[in-house]
Amino acid sequence: MANERTLSIIKPDGVEKGIIGKVISRLESSGLKPVGIRMARLSRAEAEGFYAVHRERPFFDDLVKFMTSGPVVLMVLEGDGAIARNREVMGATDPKKAAEGTIRKDFATDIEKNTVHGSDSLENAKVEIAYFFPETAITSYAWKASS
Ligand code: CMP
Repeated sequence: MANERTLSIIKPDGVEKGIIGKVISRLESSGLKPVGIRMARLSRAEAEGFYAVHRERPFFDDLVKFMTSGPVVLMVLEGDGAIARNREVMGATDPKKAAEGTIRKDFATDIEKNTVHGSDSLENAKVEIAYFFPETAITSYAWKASS
């Protein structure tokens, strides 16, 4: 499987519940390596821009309000098939439909307060990573190849 990068966000409900460590632990246990991490309090403009593809959806305003309601953890994750792997560990968008043992099944409140975000395609991952992380803020694991 190809080495990929994906964008992960621990949403305000995850930060408020005090489960940053638990979420990162599950991601790491699945083989994903954080290569960029920072906390942020998103502005309205940042959240609107990030979720621009959902602008016409009925839940857009509530989504932006929620994503700006408290701090988030922004992460770039790297690994084999990172995009699909992250989505598997997160579980379905709606926690009611999420599989046993997934982050959303175990920690999410509802479809809005669903604890984590993950890129859904290689194309979107590139756009989403660049939205929050300049390339210079992403650590490389290239040292592994030469050790
Ligand atoms: P996320 O993966 O961050 O991408 C868009 C978000 O919109 C999604 O997770 C949900 O948290 C949120 N959302 C709220 N209501 C809905 C809905 N009815 N359908 C899909 N996504 C929703």
